[in-house]
Amino acid sequence: MSALSTKHLLGIKYINTDDIHLILQTAKEFKEVINRPIKKVPSLRDLTIANLFFENSTRTRISFELAQKRLSADVINFSASASSVKKGETLLDTVNNILAMKVDMIVMRHSSVGAPMFLANKIDANIINAGDGTHEHPTQALLDAYSIKEKVGELKGVRVAIIGDIRHSRVALSNIYCLTKMGAEVMLAGPPTLIPKHIESLGVKVTYNVKEALEWCDVANILRIQLERQDIKYFPTLREYALYYGITKEILDSLNKKILIMHPGPINRGVEISSDAADSPQSIILDQVENGVAIRMAIMFLLAGRSFT
Ligand code: CP
Repeated sequence: MSALSTKHLLGIKYINTDDIHLILQTAKEFKEVINRPIKKVPSLRDLTIANLFFENSTRTRISFELAQKRLSADVINFSASASSVKKGETLLDTVNNILAMKVDMIVMRHSSVGAPMFLANKIDANIINAGDGTHEHPTQALLDAYSIKEKVGELKGVRVAIIGDIRHSRVALSNIYCLTKMGAEVMLAGPPTLIPKHIESLGVKVTYNVKEALEWCDVANILRIQLERQDIKYFPTLREYALYYGITKEILDSLNKKILIMHPGPINRGVEISSDAADSPQSIILDQVENGVAIRMAIMFLLAGRSFT
């Protein structure tokens, strides 16, 4: 297969295993490109891509922009806080005005669940979801899958623990869809209040005991507590969260094996993970960031209908 089954990347739920294999394989080619002395190819020099960020971002925004520049696309960066959205313009009017300037592809982060799906039904350009509220963050899940495969050699049968604020995490949901589609086993761990009821129906195990998850897994993906999305208190204090659910080097050293440590960022050091664990040789957090550029190059290249075959 050399083409994706979809025109947009709205979520991992809406793509199939062939799509995921193709994205990971194409990203491998682009990882080689971005490690050359000249890190640029002309693949998308005929395209203009707009990055519409209605919510804060460091990694995803910069990673998309770098990926676009490495592919020689023209790039427009839009930040809602400095736009006419502040004067009451709707999302659809904003996007239609940008598209009228001959933009071919939209990358969008939005705090509202479903915002990219809404747009996909209204406009012709390709849309990539760069995170919609608590729903999905598909490019993060794909770069996470790539990073695990790169280190472990495969995804099938790999045991991945996702630990932390599962309830408010779009990274968790996209990872669950991606890893289970690719044959990995997934266990969720965290306080009962931060793990949605009945989530086992997605084919994952659940524990409220972080040590049990760490003893079970090959890879632990540690998630931040998303205080900005919490309207009520889900645990008494951050200090107690760190004490009962935080990952430290001491806990990692107490295991009878070396597991890989991942984190999508931003990290709250000393809360969900200590500095000595985040910076340990077991951590592949910065590999994830590097791989994000290659994954996003692959996605935009494939959505633009380009292929290596
Ligand atoms: N992982 C991630 O989405 O980070 P940013 O919010 O900085 O983009």
